[in-house]
Amino acid sequence: MYPTSRPRRLRTTPAMRRLVSETTIEPRQLVLPVFVKEGATEPVPISSMPGVVQHSRDSLRKAAAEAVAAGVGGIMLFGVPATRDARGSAGADPDGVLNVALRDVRAEVGNDAVVMADTCLDEFTDHGHCGLLDEQGRVDNDATLAAYAELAVAQAESGAHVLGPSGMMDGQVGVIREALDVAGHTDAAILAYSAKYTSAFYGPFREAVDSQLQGDRKTYQQDPANVREALREATLDLAEGADMVMVKPAMCYADVLRSVAEISDVPVAAYQVSGEYAMIEAAVANGWLDRRRTVLETLTSIRRAGADVVLTYWAVQAAGWLAR
Ligand code: PBG
Repeated sequence: MYPTSRPRRLRTTPAMRRLVSETTIEPRQLVLPVFVKEGATEPVPISSMPGVVQHSRDSLRKAAAEAVAAGVGGIMLFGVPATRDARGSAGADPDGVLNVALRDVRAEVGNDAVVMADTCLDEFTDHGHCGLLDEQGRVDNDATLAAYAELAVAQAESGAHVLGPSGMMDGQVGVIREALDVAGHTDAAILAYSAKYTSAFYGPFREAVDSQLQGDRKTYQQDPANVREALREATLDLAEGADMVMVKPAMCYADVLRSVAEISDVPVAAYQVSGEYAMIEAAVANGWLDRRRTVLETLTSIRRAGADVVLTYWAVQAAGWLAR
């Protein structure tokens, strides 16, 4: 009695396995998220993200050069300002930490990597919300849109190739597109955080940006229970002119990623967020998981689920492993 089909034949040798492997990851498909802290004279470690730092201007330039040398496709910048206010004014200020850092990074890398900016207010507001608040303390969608337009133009003027609106306000992509075009930035692209869930996995990021948030983001970020809503959000962003769409977090949302990839006619990104990084690093530190194998398996899975581009704090390390 012989089995009629033997899938194991295709697993017999490394050469055979290599020949039939379906999913690849290349450094060019990875984006490194980075934090830059106003006034820092040297990098400040982030305790919940071992190996990740809040950069000084100098260390950020070095990190950007290192990422380009490793073949990483893009860099996503987040700013950590020294002072915050209710309107998040430091965001659009040309001398604000993120805009200064964008100019520094563009001076360093030119067009050798895609330079992206987080287009959101939460790092800059003293209440920590992603939008402006009304008199009752609720996030005011439409007032926020005007602030995002200003922020996006300032970031494009500072050299961002890509704007990444991450605040989940209705209409944000359309308003930003219009503002960029009117200001002459017709080539600046929009990476829409289309399906961004209200996730426990953002925990370490809050430390990374010294977040001031009390409460939660449940009135604007999506309920982890919902997938139809993600398709609705992505469809709206595509209609409003998104050049790429993103699903975030990545690992627990592979089904969402697959569904969005099926309807998207633009490249799809996934963000492997701070908590995904932290939990694997914690297990690695305990000797419970092998870093290289685990990270490459997660990145492969995210690609297999439908991501063209992956934002990951391991971008440079992974690029090094992939080059070997
Ligand atoms: C908000 C923003 C967040 C992240 C990226 N952009 C935090 C949040 O929505 O609470 C999280 C990224 C991560 O956890 O790695 N501007």
